[in-house]
Amino acid sequence: MIDGGVVRNLGFISSTEQLIKRFDTLKAMEINGVTLINKPESMFNARDKFSSLVKLKSAGIPIPETALVESPFEAMRLAERWKEVVIKPLVGSLGLGAVRVTDPDIAFRIAKSILSVNQPVYIQKYVRKPERDIRVFVVGDRVIGSIYRINKTSWKTNVAQGALTQVILPDKYLEEIALKSTAIMGLDYAGLDIVEDLDGGYKVLEVNAAPLWKGFYQATNVNPAKYIIQHLIQKLKK
Ligand SMILES: Nc1ncnc2c1ncn2[C@@H]1O[C@H](COP(=O)(O)OP(=O)(O)OP(=O)(O)O)[C@@H](O)[C@H]1O
Ligand SMILES: [Mg+2]
Repeated sequence: MIDGGVVRNLGFISSTEQLIKRFDTLKAMEINGVTLINKPESMFNARDKFSSLVKLKSAGIPIPETALVESPFEAMRLAERWKEVVIKPLVGSLGLGAVRVTDPDIAFRIAKSILSVNQPVYIQKYVRKPERDIRVFVVGDRVIGSIYRINKTSWKTNVAQGALTQVILPDKYLEEIALKSTAIMGLDYAGLDIVEDLDGGYKVLEVNAAPLWKGFYQATNVNPAKYIIQHLIQKLKK
């Protein structure tokens, strides 16, 4: 009998049925007494970036203006209103496929092509930021480390997109945002992408329920696996 397990991701998903099957399998393990982290339900919810941001916003966490639309005209109007937007995949992509747009006609064309493959258009106001964002790693109710992800040549600061890393000490406010966001999403561990808005304050871009940590580990020498296992063992003892 297995007492517990760490779910690292739901794997590459090519259909809704496949996603349901994987979720059902994990859920069945849980129902039969296996403690899983992250909880399958929380992982499932966190995959949907838009509903995640809606949840965070309602709890008072600062997020960029964001919309999910099914019309190219709406996408165009949002580009007009927000001046500079990011149109990105609704489900995580390591930064691949996200585009930054200022021209409303280009927003219209991109939205049309996304809609033509029956996908909704996830569109967000571009947050003016330094040449970096912040990855905060949370396990349980503590921040195990934070890094800048710096990219001087692209607005995308994913390590997978070539960003450099630098360890930082989070201030109280950043720490509070990260811990609160993780708790709201019901996650046991998470990697948060947070930007410093040049117009003031932090903005949470996303809460990753299956974060990669190669770049984080190399920069901080903090091994998330160790903390995640400790957290799981603690949960099992309760
Ligand atoms: N609204 C935005 N304003 C400014 N920069 C953004 C915005 N959205 C994304 N970015 C930049 O692009 C990077 C990738 O975006 P995001 O983290 O939202 O998706 P992703 O990394 O592709 O998804 P995942 O991490 O799940 O693979 C961010 O780290 C950030 O640097
Ligand atoms: Mg990201």
